[in-house]
Amino acid sequence: MKKVDVVLGLQWGDEGKGKVVDVLTPKYQVIARFQGGPNAGHSLHFSDRSYVLHTIPSGIFRDGSVNVIGNGVVIDPVILSQEIAELEASGVDVASKLLVSRKAHLILPTHRMLDAASEAAKGGAKIGSTLKGIGPTYMDKTGRNGLRVGDILSPEFPERYRKLREKHEHMLKQYDFRYDIAEYEREWFAGIENLKRFRLVESEYAVNRFVEENKAVLAEGAQGSMLDIDFGTYPFVTSSNTLCAGVCTGLGVAPSRIGNVYGIFKAYCTRVGSGPFPTELFDGDGEKLREIGREFGATTGRPRRCGWLDMVALKYSVMMNGVTGLIMMKADVMNDFDTIRVATAYKVDGVETSEFPFETGGKIEPVYKDFKGWKCNINNIRRYEDFPAELKTYVEYIERETGVPVVIISVGPDREETIVR
Ligand code: GDP
Ligand code: IMO
Ligand code: MG
Repeated sequence: MKKVDVVLGLQWGDEGKGKVVDVLTPKYQVIARFQGGPNAGHSLHFSDRSYVLHTIPSGIFRDGSVNVIGNGVVIDPVILSQEIAELEASGVDVASKLLVSRKAHLILPTHRMLDAASEAAKGGAKIGSTLKGIGPTYMDKTGRNGLRVGDILSPEFPERYRKLREKHEHMLKQYDFRYDIAEYEREWFAGIENLKRFRLVESEYAVNRFVEENKAVLAEGAQGSMLDIDFGTYPFVTSSNTLCAGVCTGLGVAPSRIGNVYGIFKAYCTRVGSGPFPTELFDGDGEKLREIGREFGATTGRPRRCGWLDMVALKYSVMMNGVTGLIMMKADVMNDFDTIRVATAYKVDGVETSEFPFETGGKIEPVYKDFKGWKCNINNIRRYEDFPAELKTYVEYIERETGVPVVIISVGPDREETIVR
């Protein structure tokens, strides 16, 4: 095969990447995370059990899989250790399946404090960060101050940690922010010790070797394209490149090695945290989507903002990711809607546009196209041919507009509730 396939989110995160990666894993031997960190929460449901993964790739449950945490990921050893402990308690042999890049950066306890202090200082303008220390850790990475997984084996590690903590403590003084990291720091060092049980590798060599050996490799995105640091709704974004380009830098895979790019989207839209969301609903329909879709954050438990599908944003994401196949999630949540709306364009200051605008602070008014709802339960359907005509119309409209086929449709959270076309 000699290519790396990619699964990534096209909206504002939580599209259902965990489920899809889990469904696709039987076709892949290697699953690799390339960016983000414990801000992610990827849910998996199978055999009447549910799991949420934050740092570990969603292939971990499948026998014989290799799961790589790439250099582009940021790791909190406390959260990673908790994840590993839960997996081991449910019988998953994590050590035999996990490879961790020595170049992945470490989230320090003080990075979390900087995240919290910075958000608190922003007041009403806050990003709505998950407060996992993501922004400050990537800042130290690009500022060339960071500590990496490979550093934990050095005898100088404690001293380097102390120096960076000191720098952070100095920075924290500019905020009116009280904190106590003593307990977390103890857990953090225990997590560092725990990390030493695993294979810490140059993952760029490992991944390229797998590709050369014709192993099927799948890169698993976190967050979504509209949260990308460059192209998302800045500054209400995360601090990494969530786009397909991030696979190259976050795993050390050449652009010419990228194969199929699967772009995941919900049949509607959600966003958690602050920032522009042109199709957001504040009425009963929004409430209905949240209730039926159980739209509450997998990492923070916060209610997710809900709205109609946004074709302007979706086409923007499809363009920048070079999506070759679309995957539509959660159509079942709209089983009982009379009318389903899709934004086909925006009116910005009265001027219609089909491009995502630079300035998102003012009023963006969506221009809607209405679709008739299918008004029946689709959860038990397993063949595309058996879908109600209204749902087929919806799917085929999306295919026409984006120019990309919808190759998988998910009609429920369980592994089995999936239609592959
Ligand atoms: P991720 O971050 O992209 O992996 O997505 P999350 O796990 O944060 O959020 C997706 C939520 O939707 C999870 O609770 C999934 O169990 C659930 N889910 C995934 N696919 C479907 C679907 O087709 N229908 C329904 N009703 N729920 C789904
Ligand atoms: P998964 O992988 C949804 C959002 C936060 C906040 C902004 C910045 O589960 O799809 P950060 O913690 O990165 O500083 O937060 O990005 N955010 C997510 N929203 N799903 C995620 O991950 C997210 N990760 C970060 O809510 O608005
Ligand atoms: Mg999530």
